[in-house]
Formats: sequence, structure tokens, C-alpha cells
Amino acid sequence: MDFAKGGRDAHELLKAQAHVWYHMFNYISSMSLKCAVELGIPDIILNHGQPMTLSELAEALPVPPAKTAHVHRLMRLMVHLGFFALQKNEHGKEGYVLTPSSKLLLNESRMSLSPFLLMLLDPVLESQWHFLSRWFKEGGVSVMETATGMRLWEYMAQNPETSNRFNEAMASDSRFLMEILVSEYGGVFHGLGSLVDVGGGTGETAMTIARAFPQIKCTVLDLPHVVATVPKTVDLDFVGGDMFESIPMADAVFLKWILHDWSDEDCVRILRRCKEAIPSKEEGGKVIVVDMVVDTTQADPKSTEAQLYFDLLVMVHLGGKERDEHEWCKIFMDAGFNQYKIKPVLGLRSVIELYP
Ligand SMILES: C[S@@+](CC[C@H](N)C(=O)[O-])C[C@H]1O[C@@H](n2cnc3c(N)ncnc32)[C@H](O)[C@@H]1O
Repeated sequence: MDFAKGGRDAHELLKAQAHVWYHMFNYISSMSLKCAVELGIPDIILNHGQPMTLSELAEALPVPPAKTAHVHRLMRLMVHLGFFALQKNEHGKEGYVLTPSSKLLLNESRMSLSPFLLMLLDPVLESQWHFLSRWFKEGGVSVMETATGMRLWEYMAQNPETSNRFNEAMASDSRFLMEILVSEYGGVFHGLGSLVDVGGGTGETAMTIARAFPQIKCTVLDLPHVVATVPKTVDLDFVGGDMFESIPMADAVFLKWILHDWSDEDCVRILRRCKEAIPSKEEGGKVIVVDMVVDTTQADPKSTEAQLYFDLLVMVHLGGKERDEHEWCKIFMDAGFNQYKIKPVLGLRSVIELYP
């Protein structure tokens, strides 16, 4: 075929095909990563203590010897994606070592992102993506609702096993992020005598704040079915309730990963409840939001891509939205706040302080 005559260059066509294939196959990277985590490969390599050859890895894995060549194929992809690297061991043989990314996927580590990865790729949540085009045509608050007939929080209330996995995933993110927040921008908590973590799940966030700032009296508000799962040994005040109804009074309200779950109108309603719960700015009142501020002009295209993926993620599961500064500003002003300050100190996420 003469592509040039038809105005189509063969090289361009094949390049376009490669682009389509790259994105068509993207789910294979998430699913292969999930497999590596489920098999415990990062922990096995860590515990080996030196570069781990393929045969050593295959022997340590709960897989039959006949699968060794398949382990090699999985690891070849994982190395290519930057989750493991190859290094020579003391006998000069090439073996697998961890990279900074796989160090974040160790089951043993307090900072592990594995619970979040496993929850997102759980068939219950992952299967909802198959309903996305139907949701566009039929409407509804979220794809979750189109797929299951329920909003996410209703589904969680009725499915304790998924709910526990979700809460553990949230707690793992808090263990990761809150240590960084406290060390990088601990000043945001200075001067506070009390704080309520709204939608604070099982209390991981509030525990980190209370440990770092023992003078702050921390309370956690979440839905009754979440609060009911918290062991009595956790030394925080928990309130089972609805943030749309009322929020316990405190010097500051903390909202981590809450507003991105909701529409603009719902965010305004939540923020108005927050404003009622805090004193004036002069008396030290403020709302602290931890969420993304979408920026499509970032130098690192992967950061923009991750933010845009997250935007679709909250659209699918919750009918929520990741916002740029302009969108945030409108919500804050509509809710009656006069001033805000954004600190991009958390990588893909920011800390936003709101003053009444
Ligand atoms: C995305 S999770 C974030 C959890 C936690 N803030 C974190 O970042 O780890 C949202 C939380 O909001 C809670 N939630 C949902 N609707 C709520 C409501 N009406 N009142 C209080 N909490 C609610 C959920 O149960 C869940 O724990």
C-alpha cells in the first residue's frame, strides 16, 4: 500500500499503533505489580540481604519449580518498570535488588503503600471501570452507583470485609504521609489546643498528630460503622456521626482526602459545617485540608498523569473530583472563608489552610 499517496506515512501509523498499545496494555503494569506484592517479592528480596538470583527467588516463592521461567518474565517487566534493579552478588552473579519504589511496597514496613495498592486493584473497585461508558450515557452520581446501585459509603457499611480493607488502605496512606507532614510542615499545628479529624477513619492520622503534639486534644469523627471497628485501646476520642449534620467544636478541623470525594456543592456544605465548629481567625481557628491541587504544567509529566488518574478514580468510585487552585478558591469563598494558603509540601498533594 502506498501510504504516502494516501497522505498517511507508514512510520507515523506504526508510531500511533505503539502509542495505542502502550495505553491499552497499561493495566498490565498495575496487575503485574499487584501480583509481585501478593507473592511478597519485595519482602523476600529484602530478607535475602544481597542481590537475589532468579533461582534463589523462585525457590523462596510459593510457586512450583516449573514456574521459574515465568517468574523471570514477571521480574523482567518489573525491572523494566523500575520496581527492581539488577546487581551482581558476591559470586559475580546477577540478582534482583529493591529500588526506592519497591521499598514502599514492603509488607513489613510501617510506610508500606501495599494496602492502598491492593485495595484499589481489588475486584470490587477495579470492576467498576467496566461501567464507565454506561455511566456517561445514563448519569448517576458515580460509576459505583451505576455498577452496584449504592454509593461507596453505603456499600462499605454493608460489606464489612471490603470496608476493613478500605480503612486499612486509608490508614496505610496516613502512616506514610502524616510522618512527612509533621516533619516537613509541623508548623501548621503550632498554637492549636484541639483538633477534630473529620472523616478520620480508624484514627491513624490523629494518632500521628497527637504523638507529635501531645498538647493537642484530638478527636476523630467518622461514620458510625467505621468508628464501631476501632479497638477500645486506641487512645483518642471517637465520634460516630455525619459531617453534613454537625462537627465537634475544636480550634482546627482537619480534612485529609475528604473534599475530593464530593461534588462542589457537597464540599461547600461540609466546609460550612467546619466553619461553625471553629473559632474566629483571631482566636486561632482554621481548617486544614490535605488534598491535591491539580497542576497540568508540572515539569514531571508522571506527576501530572498521576493527578489526572486520581481525578478519574474519585469520579468513578465516589462522584468526586480533583481540583485546580481556581476550583478550590471558588469552593472556599462560597463556603464563607476569607483567606487560604496552599503549601505544596506533600508531592502530589498539598496542605491548604483556610481561615474564617
Ligand atoms: C477517603 S477516606 C479518608 C480517610 C482519612 N481521612 C485518610 O485520609 O486516611 C474518607 C472518609 O470519610 C468518611 N466519611 C464518608 N462520609 C462521611 C460522613 N457523612 N461523615 C463523616 N465521615 C464520612 C469515610 O468513612 C472515610 O473514612
